[in-house]
Amino acid sequence: MKDLFGRALLDYQNGHYTEDLITSTNISEEDDLPLPYLFRDFKDMPKLEKNALQLAKGSVLDVGCGAGNHSLYLQKKGFTVKAIDISKGAIEVSKLRGVTHAEVKNILDEKDTFDTVLLLMNGTGIFQELSQVSKYLTHLKSLLKPNGQILIDSSDIKYMYEDDDGGFWMDAHANYYGELDYYLSYKGEEETPMKWLYLDFDTLKLACDTVGLTCELVLDGSHFDYLARLG
Ligand SMILES: C[S@@+](CC[C@H](N)C(=O)[O-])C[C@H]1O[C@@H](n2cnc3c(N)ncnc32)[C@H](O)[C@@H]1O
Repeated sequence: MKDLFGRALLDYQNGHYTEDLITSTNISEEDDLPLPYLFRDFKDMPKLEKNALQLAKGSVLDVGCGAGNHSLYLQKKGFTVKAIDISKGAIEVSKLRGVTHAEVKNILDEKDTFDTVLLLMNGTGIFQELSQVSKYLTHLKSLLKPNGQILIDSSDIKYMYEDDDGGFWMDAHANYYGELDYYLSYKGEEETPMKWLYLDFDTLKLACDTVGLTCELVLDGSHFDYLARLG
């Protein structure tokens, strides 16, 4: 991984913002990912994220913290927060912005336990593929203190396969429709392609059942997105 995401965050943090990240997927055209959005404060967060932050309790793990927006908000509210990300640049930025406990770490290497585990901005993306969901959920479950909770958001992206006359062009023999190949570029450089998973709520709930986690729909968002609480 070249960590172009981290490089972009560092540029923005250091006052060198000249262009946005460009993303695309195997089923969608190029789109800008504005860097200021990755530095949003509470008032600019979608309502699902605001809701998740309001539900936080006890010690918190912010998984895939990016520039540390959610960690910073909770830290200021007095929560003890640990922020982790596989991006070195993201962790550097989180520290520069004041996140006290930020570490470069893959979620699968985390061993501590928490009252709240946060995975926000399509939190299921980190699972990459449907076949890996049980592995990640089982691990996340092992990080929970008694009565702990996982707050995670995602979207049902079936709408992306809808054609003009309301039909769906999904290939019935292909993998799960939320499994995407994700491409990122920044300042003319291309990141190694990644897999990124969008999970509809029913599929997430089914996966939770199989690993012994409860799964409650907290809130529907404005565009096929939702926030779920697992425990
Ligand atoms: C869509 S960004 C979300 C950033 C941040 N949560 C936000 O809302 O602004 C996803 C983040 O997850 C990180 N990530 C991806 N896979 C990860 C893993 N296995 N463990 C920890 N972090 C991961 C990426 O580096 C990236 O910073």
